[in-house]
Amino acid sequence: MQPSADSLQIGNYIGALMQWRELQESYDAFFSVVDLHAITVAQDPEHLREKTRRTAAQYIAAGIEPSKSTLYVQSHVPAHAELAWILSTITGFGEAGRMTQFKDKSSRYGSDATSVGLFTYPVLMAADILLYRTDIVPVGDDQKQHVELTRDLAERFNSRFGETFTVPMPVIQQETARIYDLQNPTAKMSKSAESDAGVLWLLDDPAVSAKKIMRAVTDSEGSVRYDREAKPGVSNLLVIYAALTGRQIPSIEDEYAGRGYGDFKKGLAEVVVNEFGPVRERALQMLDDTAELDRVLAVNAGRAEEVANRTLTDVYDKVGL
Ligand code: ADP
Ligand code: NA
Repeated sequence: MQPSADSLQIGNYIGALMQWRELQESYDAFFSVVDLHAITVAQDPEHLREKTRRTAAQYIAAGIEPSKSTLYVQSHVPAHAELAWILSTITGFGEAGRMTQFKDKSSRYGSDATSVGLFTYPVLMAADILLYRTDIVPVGDDQKQHVELTRDLAERFNSRFGETFTVPMPVIQQETARIYDLQNPTAKMSKSAESDAGVLWLLDDPAVSAKKIMRAVTDSEGSVRYDREAKPGVSNLLVIYAALTGRQIPSIEDEYAGRGYGDFKKGLAEVVVNEFGPVRERALQMLDDTAELDRVLAVNAGRAEEVANRTLTDVYDKVGL
């Protein structure tokens, strides 16, 4: 994830961290805070450093264990930038220009505010993946095109220079793990949303989270029922409830049958506060004295670098550097 905010939001937790927590048990997983990606848009240096630490602390607080996974900061492993350069030399200009995320973002920023780094962002992402001879990349639907590009680059490199990269497979998260903005329940909840009235932050004070849930947009029907089309607000709250409790949606619908949205929201607020209370406390504790966090990140960067440098050495050799 990009360190693009002081706190992660509940979509990052349900759509990414909860799944990564599972994956780390059975895979040799690499998770990074991608600060090199974050500087493709303007940054305040001190604030970026702070956000990077905070993001890493939240990964750990949410259960990514540095003893089970390799959890590091992207810029601590220079091989990412080095491999990205080499991959950029085998990426077509038109090919990169077809990335829909770039088209969306650049049309929003305008061409002068759009950096070349934003354009080559997917190439850096390909390097992030290929350095670790990755088999599987767990991503949201929106990142599928970037993983396809990564696969194309890996195959192209292998066919030009000889078998070097593992061609990775994307594993797309389920649609039911997608969380929407509480005030605008057809838009994805995002840590870079313009207004945070509908964003549940992991590090929010519990009272603030509860208030945001009580104010969530619903509808006038009054029944707690899952229907994404007709009832996006209530459906979104049901998905959050189900994801955090591990319960099935019909069982939650039954529990709240014949009761109003007020009761349902109160119930959900309790679930959210119970789940995030301990996560928030652990994260804030780590951020209170960052020496230990910095030490853990340095050790993990060292582990990542060992693997990454092996790949990079092979690549340099293959291309004649
Ligand atoms: P954000 O929009 O909050 O900045 P990113 O685009 O950096 O999030 O995504 C980081 C991770 O969190 C990705 O794995 C992404 O799939 C997941 N994610 C982000 N927002 C949501 C959401 N609303 N619902 C489910 N997963 C999400
Ligand atoms: Na593991």
